[in-house]
Amino acid sequence: HAVRDAFPDGNPIQVVAHRGASEDVPEHTLAAYRRAIEDGADALECDIRLTADGELVCVHDWRVNRTSNGRGAVSSMELADLATLDFGSWKGQHTDGEAPDTTDDERSSVLTLERLLELVADTERRVELAIETKHPTRWAGQVEERLLELLRRFGLDAPPPGERSAVRVMSFSSRSLRRVHTAAPELPTVYLMQYVSPRHRDGRLPAGVRIAGPSMRILRANPGYVARLHRAGHRVHVWTVNEPADVDLCVRLGVDAIITNRPKQVLSQLGR
Ligand code: G3P
Ligand code: CA
Repeated sequence: HAVRDAFPDGNPIQVVAHRGASEDVPEHTLAAYRRAIEDGADALECDIRLTADGELVCVHDWRVNRTSNGRGAVSSMELADLATLDFGSWKGQHTDGEAPDTTDDERSSVLTLERLLELVADTERRVELAIETKHPTRWAGQVEERLLELLRRFGLDAPPPGERSAVRVMSFSSRSLRRVHTAAPELPTVYLMQYVSPRHRDGRLPAGVRIAGPSMRILRANPGYVARLHRAGHRVHVWTVNEPADVDLCVRLGVDAIITNRPKQVLSQLGR
């Protein structure tokens, strides 16, 4: 298949750090993303949610219970409330040491999308971002609106003419992707799939979506799906690929991006 806009350094498979280098460092913390960049990840994945005072924060679950010492819904807390919580200790101590320029604060504070965009902007080499909108229906467009506003401020809402976009927006919600596509048609969108609905069995995706985001489980059960998606003109970004055998399968199937909690191991398996 023709990869229409290959990664600039010519690598056929992009390695995307899922929630940062989240196997080693508490997910969605600045430290996890710094580590992913040090590990050589091509791109960073993050989930975003809106706080009660309209800030986008990088948190996966709708509640803070699993990944912090607090309790309650992200959407009912203000950024200042979240800032009092410890998002690092739940993961315990690690044996592989700290990233050299990582402070305790970066390992334990809630991360705003704005801060993550600053980190990427301050990184000398190119690092792409795969931003996933979570719970987009509850806020009737506010998540997407705020996201595009931030991307615009960083000059990331559209790629420079003739170039590949450094940002893509992912969602399980086709409605969320439609909102993004309508407001920023040049921003690539990724339709995430936990299972393949009959509508998408032939490889076609919701209107405007360029990239398919099937789970690794879909690929194990139905490896032929990658070729079908490619024939329909889509690139294929697979999540969450942590086991060496799954990485091998992704390579054999010619997927375009591997989203993993272990960017370092996957890069080394790919010979990079
Ligand atoms: O990268 C896509 C993947 O993150 C989707 O699942 O639950 O980890 O957000 P989840
Ligand atoms: Ca995600």
